[in-house]
Amino acid sequence: MKIAVLPGDGIGPEIVAQAVKVLKALNLHLEMTEAPIGGAGYEVAGDPLPEATLKLAKDADAVLLGAVGDWKYDKLERHLRPERGLLRIRKELNLFANLRPALLYAELASASTLKPDVVSGLDIMIVRELTGDIYFGQPRGISMLESGEREGVNTMRYNESEIKRIGRVAFEIAMKRNKKVCSVDKANVLETTELWRQVMIELSAEYPEVELSHMYVDNAAMQLIRAPKQFDVMVTGNIFGDILSDEASMLTGSIGMLPSASLDQHNKGMYEPSHGSAPDIARKDVANPLATILSAAMMLRYTFNDEANASRVENAVKKALAQGFRTADIWTEGTKKVGCAAMGDAVVAAL
Ligand code: IPM
Ligand code: MG
Repeated sequence: MKIAVLPGDGIGPEIVAQAVKVLKALNLHLEMTEAPIGGAGYEVAGDPLPEATLKLAKDADAVLLGAVGDWKYDKLERHLRPERGLLRIRKELNLFANLRPALLYAELASASTLKPDVVSGLDIMIVRELTGDIYFGQPRGISMLESGEREGVNTMRYNESEIKRIGRVAFEIAMKRNKKVCSVDKANVLETTELWRQVMIELSAEYPEVELSHMYVDNAAMQLIRAPKQFDVMVTGNIFGDILSDEASMLTGSIGMLPSASLDQHNKGMYEPSHGSAPDIARKDVANPLATILSAAMMLRYTFNDEANASRVENAVKKALAQGFRTADIWTEGTKKVGCAAMGDAVVAAL
């Protein structure tokens, strides 16, 4: 199996190194090749998604990505910025289904900012559409009006087949879980999501065992804090999913714990932590590598169909937490604070 390893920027290289260490410790036949993306791609090739990187990713069975972005690139033209590299690779590889599980490890209940009884036992799967919506809709841009003032435009749009295919992913996942799907929209205001709701309802006829509910995104944001355990699978569009998944991550104690999988129609996938590149803590060996390690576990599960090794990695993470190892973001009184590399070592040792 071939894995394209794209460390990216900020803390990307150090967290990816830990996930690679864990994958190597499994002694599987994995061929891992590194390439630059984001600011790193811009530095070497003047492009946040260099052609060679895209080719490597297309030829691979799966992609392991760190994170992209650094403030020092904020002044570049938009198409040269690190984030464009990420958005383009998602689009180029047709990775329309983004799975972001928010799972609370019992050991971390006290690391959450919410009361332990609100979050203990939490297990939500957020299914975010990743290649459409206002992220990619045309027209877009900033232009000069006749009046002499500037105007910014972005377009929210979804067609029926895009909604249907992400809906299907959510229903299929729900069938393997608690058979509940909550579709999140803003159908009271936005026509795009009115269509979203209609299509979800139509699709639900094919999944009679799954209980489908609907929630407006503002209410969903509130309910995630008020009573997050009411959710099993949540399915939503690109931008709502971006926002809600950051919110859900904090229920689990730290955004440093949240992995993600972005899949195409054939379960080829790109695996990355849900968090960003955190340039402020880069190269200090303090970042939490667990979201990336857990993303590697998702790779084993979803692309390589290797449930046994996926669970092995997840159990090793649990064991390292049970042994008291914590990076700074999840540290609480009485536990052992370790750096990024030492946390990777603790997971390898637990394997
Ligand atoms: C994410 C990130 C990206 C997104 C950014 C870096 C473009 O926030 O993966 O959630 O908005 O999708
Ligand atoms: Mg985001």
